[in-house]
Amino acid sequence: MINELPSVFREIIRDHDDLRSAFAALVATGMKAGEQGPEAAPETAVSLGKRLHEIDGLVGRHVRKEEEGVFPVLRAVLSAGDEPGNTIFEVLEAEHVHLEKALATLTGMCASIGSGTTPSPERLDLMVTKLRIVQAEFLAHFMKEEKGIYSRAAEVLTEDGFAKIERALASL
Ligand SMILES: [Fe+2]
Ligand SMILES: [Fe+2]
Repeated sequence: MINELPSVFREIIRDHDDLRSAFAALVATGMKAGEQGPEAAPETAVSLGKRLHEIDGLVGRHVRKEEEGVFPVLRAVLSAGDEPGNTIFEVLEAEHVHLEKALATLTGMCASIGSGTTPSPERLDLMVTKLRIVQAEFLAHFMKEEKGIYSRAAEVLTEDGFAKIERALASL
């Protein structure tokens, strides 16, 4: 799908793919953590927390591109006939808030397990379970954007619309 999209959207979808890979690697590491014994739990939690922090940085930059660079132009084109304030863009922005909070909760859990003096394999298991739920939420969010707005916009956006998005992204 990515090669069929205009370059401005390809960059956005590349972010999605980078995040899909980062979550898959993180979940795989978390799933293996249970095999390493309880003593490894704090160290594993610290390592997972560091990688979550990196993911959080990627997500923050991506959300800014969408909310400040892409969505304002797409909202005017794709949701012109919708009730203002009640469009797919408000749904996606609410999901951004929820997903960023979920990442902060996971990072906090890792910090707490990592600083604990008593090894906590059960808490690490719980964190990995929550991580898999958050991963699924991110994947659903990306799919909603790719099918619900980026594919549609690629068909209807004018050259002027693409130029506006490029200017907005360049100014971030
Ligand atoms: Fe998004
Ligand atoms: Fe996105």
